[in-house]
Amino acid sequence: MLLKIRPMVHNDLSGVLYIESLCLKNCWSIESYAILIENSYSVCKVAELESTIVGYITGLYSLDTGDIYNMAVRPEFQQKGIGKVLLNNEIDEFYAKKVAKLFIEVRKSNTVAFNLYKEVGFSTISLRKNYYTNPIEDALIMIFVMNSHKKMSV
Ligand SMILES: CC(C)(COP(=O)(O)OP(=O)(O)OC[C@H]1O[C@@H](n2cnc3c(N)ncnc32)[C@H](O)[C@@H]1OP(=O)(O)O)[C@@H](O)C(=O)NCCC(=O)NCCS
Repeated sequence: MLLKIRPMVHNDLSGVLYIESLCLKNCWSIESYAILIENSYSVCKVAELESTIVGYITGLYSLDTGDIYNMAVRPEFQQKGIGKVLLNNEIDEFYAKKVAKLFIEVRKSNTVAFNLYKEVGFSTISLRKNYYTNPIEDALIMIFVMNSHKKMSV
């Protein structure tokens, strides 16, 4: 099966919200996604397998700084490399847009996401105490510096 990574469009939002409801504790509204994908400085992508959305990633940049907001892969498709392909693809697009540094936040207990971010080249720069709610938890702030970035996605 061929994995396709493409920009997120309005028609994808029900599939994205479904994955989000399965994977994340604090879900965004459909309106928030709709506003984000219409922003010309957003970088939002879906991973598709035979017309089914199996994962997504969202982010936004301003000048040379980008932020990755959310990413998730449908539970039954996790641990197959899809998250890494999505994240590398997102980094490549930020790089093409001349973003120099990219930030991501992760719950301290989310070792799976933390391992993924570390593996693609993010490093931890700080901790925000009690940053998350539902449940309350610290956030690790991670940075990816584009200096030595080489295109990773296929
Ligand atoms: C985080 C998430 C997107 C990873 O997607 P994925 O497709 O399963 O990840 P991949 O298969 O590409 O794995 C990439 C790396 O992540 C880490 N990883 C993946 N599954 C892991 C597990 N069960 N335990 C520890 N590390 C794991 C590993 O470093 C892995 O690299 P490796 O295969 O070379 O060891 C997915 O687990 C998910 O949707 N989680 C719930 C939502 C979430 O936490 N999103 C992030 C916060 S917004």
